[in-house]
Amino acid sequence: MRQKIVAGNWKMNGTIAETENLLRELLAGKLNNQNVKVVVCPPYTSLHVASKILNGSHIALGAQNMSEHARGAYTGEISPEMLLTAGVLYVILGHSERRQYHAETDQLVNAKVKLALQTGLIPIICVGELLSEREEGRTETVVGKQVAGTLSGLTAEALNKVVIAYEPVWAIGTGKTATPQMAQEVHAFIRDRLMAIDKTTAGKVPILYGGSVKPDNALGLHRQPDIDGSLVGGASLKADDFMAIINAV
Ligand code: PGA
Repeated sequence: MRQKIVAGNWKMNGTIAETENLLRELLAGKLNNQNVKVVVCPPYTSLHVASKILNGSHIALGAQNMSEHARGAYTGEISPEMLLTAGVLYVILGHSERRQYHAETDQLVNAKVKLALQTGLIPIICVGELLSEREEGRTETVVGKQVAGTLSGLTAEALNKVVIAYEPVWAIGTGKTATPQMAQEVHAFIRDRLMAIDKTTAGKVPILYGGSVKPDNALGLHRQPDIDGSLVGGASLKADDFMAIINAV
C-alpha cells in the first residue's frame, strides 16, 4: 500500500510564537489513523523551533523551498543541508507560487529535486495547470511536461523517494476545488507518466492533491484510488480544520 500523506503548507504565515501555538494544538489533536504521515511546512524562521517541538512526535517537518545550490554566494538562499540539519525531512519544490512569482522553471525544479535527494530530503514536487490551460483542453499536455521536466534524469531508486502534488493553479486559495473525479483523472494520468520512468516504482509514489482542500471536501478526494493524501494551504492554519482533513484520509 502507498504511504498516505497530509502536508500543511503554511506559506508566509506565522511568527515563531504563532507557529509554536499551532504546533501545540496539532500535537494535542486526536489522530484517528496511525498510517497517515502528517507533515507541516512552516516558514524558514520557524523551522528550528518547530523541529524541537516536534522531536519524537508523529508530525514530520517540511520546508517550502530551497536553493538549487549546495552552498556559496547566493544571498538570501537556504541550502538543503541547512534544512536537513535544522530537522527538516520534506521540502516542497516547484509550488505554483514559486513558478508564478519567482519564475521557477521545470529545469530549475529538476535541479532542486536532484540536490534534495542527494542531501537526504524528500521532495514534494508540485505540478498543475492554469485555468486557461484547462479551458483550452491542455491539462494533460501541461502536467505531462511538468512531470517529465521535474523528474528528468531520475533513476527508479530516486523516483521511489519522491512525493508528487497535483495542484491545479485555479484551485489554489480560490475556494474552487477540483471535483474528486477531475482530480482522479489527472492523478491517474500522472501515474501513467511515472510508468514511463519505471513501471514498478510508479505504483509506489504518493500523489497528493492540493487546491482548496477543506474538511468538507477532503473525504471525497481522499477516497479516489490515485489520491494518496493532500497538500493543504489555508485550512492547515487552523488546527481543527487540519486535523479534520488528516482524519479524513
Ligand atoms: P490552498 O493552498 O489549500 O490554500 O488552496 C494549497 C497550496 O497552495 O498548497
